[in-house]
Amino acid sequence: GEVGSGALRFTPIASVDDAVDALTVPKGWRWTPILRWGDPLFDDSPAFDPTVPDAEAQERQFGYNNDYLDILVTDRRGRKALLCCNHEYVNRAIMFPPTSSAALEREVLKATMAAHGFSVVELRRSATGRPWRYVRGAAKNRRITAYTAFELTGAAAGSDLVTTAADPSGRRILGTFGNCSGGTTPWGTILSGEENFNGYFRADPGARGSARYGLTNKPSTYGWENIDPRFDATGPDYANEPHRFGYIVEIDPQDPTSTPRKHSALGRFKHEGANIRVDRDGTVAAYMGDDERFDYLYKFVSKWKYRPGSSASARRHNLRLLTEGDLYVARFSGVQNPGNDNLGTGSWIPLIMNGESVVPGMTHEEVLVFTREAADTMKATPMDRCEDVQPNLQSGKVYVVCTNNADRGVRPGKPGPDAVNPRAANKNGHIVEITERGDSAGATSFRWDLFMVCGDAGQAGTYFGGWTGDVAPISCPDNIAFDSRGDLWIATDGAPSSIGKADGLFRVPLQGAERGHLTQFLAVPVQAETCGPVVHDTDGSVFVAVQHPGEDGSWEQQLSFFPDYVPEGATPRRGAWRGPRPAVVQVTKG
Ligand code: FEO
Ligand code: CA
Ligand code: CA
Ligand code: CA
Repeated sequence: GEVGSGALRFTPIASVDDAVDALTVPKGWRWTPILRWGDPLFDDSPAFDPTVPDAEAQERQFGYNNDYLDILVTDRRGRKALLCCNHEYVNRAIMFPPTSSAALEREVLKATMAAHGFSVVELRRSATGRPWRYVRGAAKNRRITAYTAFELTGAAAGSDLVTTAADPSGRRILGTFGNCSGGTTPWGTILSGEENFNGYFRADPGARGSARYGLTNKPSTYGWENIDPRFDATGPDYANEPHRFGYIVEIDPQDPTSTPRKHSALGRFKHEGANIRVDRDGTVAAYMGDDERFDYLYKFVSKWKYRPGSSASARRHNLRLLTEGDLYVARFSGVQNPGNDNLGTGSWIPLIMNGESVVPGMTHEEVLVFTREAADTMKATPMDRCEDVQPNLQSGKVYVVCTNNADRGVRPGKPGPDAVNPRAANKNGHIVEITERGDSAGATSFRWDLFMVCGDAGQAGTYFGGWTGDVAPISCPDNIAFDSRGDLWIATDGAPSSIGKADGLFRVPLQGAERGHLTQFLAVPVQAETCGPVVHDTDGSVFVAVQHPGEDGSWEQQLSFFPDYVPEGATPRRGAWRGPRPAVVQVTKG
């Protein structure tokens, strides 16, 4: 039967085999791409043509591997919106042809730098409930790339931990990359987490932080050190360049001329994303995960309170909120029950309080730049890879998505299962529900319970919020969203390798008799990850960013043809290309 409510009632789909190269949606629904890799964003943007790699063209086109997504409706009639989306990483082997000269390969590498970062694109539609279309050449369209100038804010800005030969000020950083998830702030800006930044550098393995952040002196994953000396941190000139990545960035999508910022006050680690909660008294907290096996859950509490309204002075004030405040890391305790309906208490352990380091032997700047080291010292709880950490604005509860951790209880010298990470060799992941003491965003203690312990239906050790009826099989939860009723939507990344199913998008109520009743809404094409998601239930639209379809293919042998599906032998439309294009997709009725 149907599930959901209002304009978002649907018949759940059955789980889809991981080899299927299709986007599967419920019966009676349809999907359409809004933006695909290479779509021209500006009047002067060249048409998409990956057979001729061109960095300048890519800079004027939608980037690759969209992950975080939001669709901000900007007019009262619901016909205009801003699409805000990041471009986490690239896959050179399937994007561009092999090259025969060093000069051509240089251009390819420059194009991959331009395919990273962020896009802001204006959307229009003819009426509420109709599909959105993007507006080429619109005033607010913007691309941010691996070489756009950012301002570093907070106590680490200007410190000698972040200066380089090219930037003796330690305040002006070029580019953002590895941007994974994110969050939209109540003041209308977008946050994005710089996650796997280590993969872009060569570095001295003996330098401070290298081991803890996974920096090595091997050729980088992306090869940019071959065209730009700042990606080789082995020498003195750029030894600090890796210290300039791994932050939460803030972008103002309303002002295409604004300088995007990196906020050192929120610490430096493999930031998945950041999500803001403003509580009753205006206290502002940012919840954040470090997506690495056995790394930590963090909270930042702003020094200032949120000022409501859209006046220029309120806006100016709110744009400072993430530049100064207290930084905490989570420590959990609790009991492990046989059914994994675990619960317990926890503390937010301060790293920075009232503008000063509380970590023995570390200065304020050191805590912000080597945050993992600070959290190790303070004995935080090692987690099973925190991805999205997001407050439910209806209940105030915070949902912590732990995607998986194959090493728990397996790798020598590393922790075994505990109450909040209950399974050894955790391949399917789980979701923790946190209730702050006194419902306060600034609380230093909390209660928690396991909301979901994922896996194939009926598998030992799974738990679905107390629900004992049928559930959809789910593995490797990653990005989440809430609809207007407060129901939770979960996107997955990794189900093909853990349970042999395509990744997908799932809905689950958090309250009432249906709590834990998990159903599946869509499945993504072969080898893709489901990102975004965005749920506009009142007008019956769901949006996902389809990331890395066909990622194990090659230029000669592509494995996905999403989203255009030009049949073999057919005459492609002008500009069409036989290969996958990561894309933002909308799902609507009819
Ligand atoms: Fe880029 Fe944590 O996933
Ligand atoms: Ca991703
Ligand atoms: Ca993620
Ligand atoms: Ca992931």
